[in-house]
Amino acid sequence: MSSHPIPPASDGPAGALRRVLKLPADAPVLAPLAGIAGAAALLCAGYAWAAGWLTPARLTPVRIVDTFETNFGVHPGLRRNHTKGICVTGRFDGNGAAGAWSTATVFGPVRTPVVGRFAVPGGNPSVPDTASPVRSMALLFQLPGGEQWRTGMNSMPIVVSNTPRGFYESVLASRPDPATGKPDPARMKAYFAAHPESGAFNAWVKAHPPSSSFADTRFYSINAFRLVDAAGAEHVVRWSMVPELAPAPLDPRGAAAPDLLQDDLAARLARGPLRWHLQLQFAAPGDPEDDATRAWPATRRTVDAGVLTLERAEAQDDGPCRDVNFDPTVLPRGIRVSSDPLLAARSGAYSRSYNLRTHEQAAALASHGGAR
Ligand code: HEM
Repeated sequence: MSSHPIPPASDGPAGALRRVLKLPADAPVLAPLAGIAGAAALLCAGYAWAAGWLTPARLTPVRIVDTFETNFGVHPGLRRNHTKGICVTGRFDGNGAAGAWSTATVFGPVRTPVVGRFAVPGGNPSVPDTASPVRSMALLFQLPGGEQWRTGMNSMPIVVSNTPRGFYESVLASRPDPATGKPDPARMKAYFAAHPESGAFNAWVKAHPPSSSFADTRFYSINAFRLVDAAGAEHVVRWSMVPELAPAPLDPRGAAAPDLLQDDLAARLARGPLRWHLQLQFAAPGDPEDDATRAWPATRRTVDAGVLTLERAEAQDDGPCRDVNFDPTVLPRGIRVSSDPLLAARSGAYSRSYNLRTHEQAAALASHGGAR
């Protein structure tokens, strides 16, 4: 038998609750319940905030990726940006030269397998390869012990804006005009006028003719990162992949071929491997690590950290890059993110795009009875 008195029936909701829970007459019940309810409400509010429901003007990964879908349509199972691409595989041979600045094993005198992807920008899977001067190279280095280094690089050293909102507004401004299929020049002009930070990007594009091949293109991390040495000291760097092939300008006679860059890559790889050198550029004091619209002077110290050799190309529909999210914040020990705000925005947007496309792929598989 309980040593506590049974609460009388006339003591209101608290007493009723005590009887249901078989608690003593003097046990506090309403305060703990209010606490639990409060915690649950806070959790819900946190979830709603993270999803952007409470702040519709806030820039979320969902909103950013929605904008790509509005511009280019939804192409189920495919990336929402840099949609047209091709998988590649090969290896990276580190030479040890960067070992003084980073403990990442990939920089030692070792061979690291690599899965990669070349692509062109925008969310249209059938865009002609040379519609834009931008080309991209994304790489996943498979380090020992399950560590990975993922990087997504573009063919210019700087980007159009240094903030996620500025980047997002550039995507909004470049929405194709239904009449021409191209961005409205007046909207683009208004964007550039409102974003003076985009001037350096425009000047770079005007001064550099589009490359003729993925194989002769230099690809830049654009964002800064930090290398961490054995003593824990950090060194701010940007990296680029410098092709061994001398750059050749695009021949306008062949530029109309829709798959020019992919066909050229496959033909070159059929003849033999292609190589790039990983060049690390070190920031000097005062060089911005959080402003991807400003290149650092070419006189900064550079280190050749090793050679990337690509051997094989495969279609992305079924190739090894299909299910990779080239999130640039997935880094091994010895490399860290910098204070550049674009990195977190990229990570969120790539994740959203990845979740959408892999969900769509799974749904398509299910509706085809599991056939690949
Ligand atoms: C610093 C400048 C940037 C560089 C160098 C860059 C580079 C790239 C590359 C290489 C890819 C293709 C990855 C692949 O082949 O799978 C890509 C895809 C993408 N980019 Fe960026 N990007 C930049 C900025 C941004 C920003 C600021 C956003 C939006 C916040 C963004 C949104 C996306 C999205 C949604 C994808 C598709 C991702 C996927 O589904 O895998 N990018 N980008």
